[in-house]
Amino acid sequence: MDRNEAVLRELKLYPLWRRRGAPAPVAAVEVVQEAQASDYAAPPRPAQPDVGRALARHAPSELVEAVGLKPDLQHSPVSRGGELSNINWPELKQQVRDCTLCKLRAGCTQTVFGVGDEQAEWLFVGEGPGADEDAQGEPFVGQAGKLLDNMLLAIGLRRGKNVYIANIVKCRPPNNRAPEADEIATCLPYLQRQIELIKPRLIVALGKTAATALLGRDAPLGSLRGTLHDYHGIPLVITYHPAYLLRSPMEKAKAWQDLCLAMRARHGEA
Ligand code: URA
Repeated sequence: MDRNEAVLRELKLYPLWRRRGAPAPVAAVEVVQEAQASDYAAPPRPAQPDVGRALARHAPSELVEAVGLKPDLQHSPVSRGGELSNINWPELKQQVRDCTLCKLRAGCTQTVFGVGDEQAEWLFVGEGPGADEDAQGEPFVGQAGKLLDNMLLAIGLRRGKNVYIANIVKCRPPNNRAPEADEIATCLPYLQRQIELIKPRLIVALGKTAATALLGRDAPLGSLRGTLHDYHGIPLVITYHPAYLLRSPMEKAKAWQDLCLAMRARHGEA
């Protein structure tokens, strides 16, 4: 079995059927660690609040403008956009390290800033750190991270090489819950500044929390994936969160389609 096959097998997409004459869609570069989806399975979460609507209620004004929420929905005394707009990487890292602006910091071990090539063309955005990430200080190092690494390999990418990985919130929410709207609104300016500094050519939002926060509107993920969106002039592709794919491996085929869309978009073909 060659490397491509190994990657596709891991994504449960093998054997791959291709139209005669069509170009090969993958350029996998690494041997994939064999792992069973069931090894990764995380318990399903309880129903989450409507993040988009709640975000609209709590978002600070600069966030409202940045993500295009309706001004009449804004309601927040906080405004940090000005503070962050001129700071450099070391200052931003320091601010995140020192941040105590929301209740998440009190319950986590450390902040998880983000990792990778600070001039990457590809930016992947998840939701927030889990237990492993909280312990190690790096995004996506647990079981979902292994799948994300394999997804990267499937499109010829590798963590840290032309790829940056970050989350919507920098601190682990307790009990594996989704971040709440006020936590997202407080933390999002850090990611926004990261994006300004990285200047990625493409953003991939992993899961509904990332999609909602970056788009500034709420919709079922199934209706958002499969088309190209825009984040301030940067093409934005929305796909399923790797943790969800571990619980719902049948959806991996759609995630693969999304990655193909991302590759086409990156090369100006979408
Ligand atoms: N899930 C996320 O959304 N981010 C991580 O860093 C880990 C798991």
